[in-house]
Amino acid sequence: MNEITKPAGKQASAAVNEQRLWQRHVDMAKFGATPKGGVNRQALSAEDIKARALFAEWVAKRGFELFVDEIGNLFVRRPGTDPNAAPVLSGSHMDSQPTGGRFDGIYGVLAAFEALEAIDDAGIKTKRPLEAAAWTNEEGARFAPGCMGSLVYTKPDRLQQMLQVKDAQGTVLKDALAATTAALPKAKKRAFATPVDCFIEAHIEQGPILEAEKKTIGVVTGIQGSRRFKIEVIGQDDHAGTTPRARRKDALSAAVHIVAGLEKLFHWDKEDVTRFTVGRFVVEPNAPSVVPGYVWFTIDFRDPRLEILDKLGDQVEGICQANARKCEVKVTQTNRTPPIGFKGLVADAVLAATQRLGYPHMHIFSGAGHDAQHLFNICPTGMIFVPCERGISHNEIENAAPADLAAGARVLADVMVDLANR
Ligand code: GLV
Ligand code: MN
Ligand code: MN
Repeated sequence: MNEITKPAGKQASAAVNEQRLWQRHVDMAKFGATPKGGVNRQALSAEDIKARALFAEWVAKRGFELFVDEIGNLFVRRPGTDPNAAPVLSGSHMDSQPTGGRFDGIYGVLAAFEALEAIDDAGIKTKRPLEAAAWTNEEGARFAPGCMGSLVYTKPDRLQQMLQVKDAQGTVLKDALAATTAALPKAKKRAFATPVDCFIEAHIEQGPILEAEKKTIGVVTGIQGSRRFKIEVIGQDDHAGTTPRARRKDALSAAVHIVAGLEKLFHWDKEDVTRFTVGRFVVEPNAPSVVPGYVWFTIDFRDPRLEILDKLGDQVEGICQANARKCEVKVTQTNRTPPIGFKGLVADAVLAATQRLGYPHMHIFSGAGHDAQHLFNICPTGMIFVPCERGISHNEIENAAPADLAAGARVLADVMVDLANR
């Protein structure tokens, strides 16, 4: 047995409180609650600010310190016995999609906080400090790109560029961020360069596999890669009644042909592994009697194979130009994240703790993106998945069972102790 597979003395997992963890989900789901039972808590919105403020209250009540960095990432710290050691960090995000669920992201933040509380309740000392993180703007629905907080934390030179990003209403991220941090007056400032010993993210699976296989825990083996693009089609506004076909520069018509061309490219594999989504489509001026002069839309392309990401992604520009008809097309790649594999320290610790606790489990690859993709670049990283109902996510009806959420938090608590005391 190595250090990690050895059973921990006192079990942090035994102190995980299922009811407390569930109640925190219920309390957080009030911020941005939608009529269909989901949440709309987009990054740095009034709802996100209120959720952060409540989180800060819980942290203060518990007597833990709270830190905030220049992109608004939050860190809750439970000190270790070695004052010079880097922390074992766990967390996820508090923001949601516009029609998001009550568990995507927030579960990983609350599970990490529950782990810290449980470890505290159990009176366990750790050599390394333990921290729970809430990364800013993982979803990227309001301000693009997503995973912004974890990206900037791991690549601080991107901060200035991100501060200038605008949402659809023209709000500059820097201003939304200032309002957010102003609502957290007690949080201490933290520099980006603060080292991390290792990172573990707990998350609902957001897919159907664990439920179908009747497994409680997914030991995550990696995350597929993604490339995202913004496509702008520039035509000309014209009168719908008077402009003959031959004179039109109809941006919508061109955009529809471009999307059809892209579908041919991306719907190539019988195995149905490649994912291609046009999730946002904006038409201007969007008036019934005006030939549309401007369209922009997004491409979200994902694949676990780097060579496919490169090969298909590199053809996007050509297909857009070939189908542009009389319009001008501008193609901007907004994000490129290669696939990653989780092996070694953290993945081994997750598997060992899961086995010790006796939960039905399996290895699983992530189709969704996560902040762990960026932390992976700076420290040993891994993830824990728990099932969600019918695999439905990015949907207001997203659901998860309190017992499964608690099981993931128990694994996480033991893993954090094991890694902090190794
Ligand atoms: C994360 O929310 C993703 O879109 O994968
Ligand atoms: Mn998420
Ligand atoms: Mn999400």
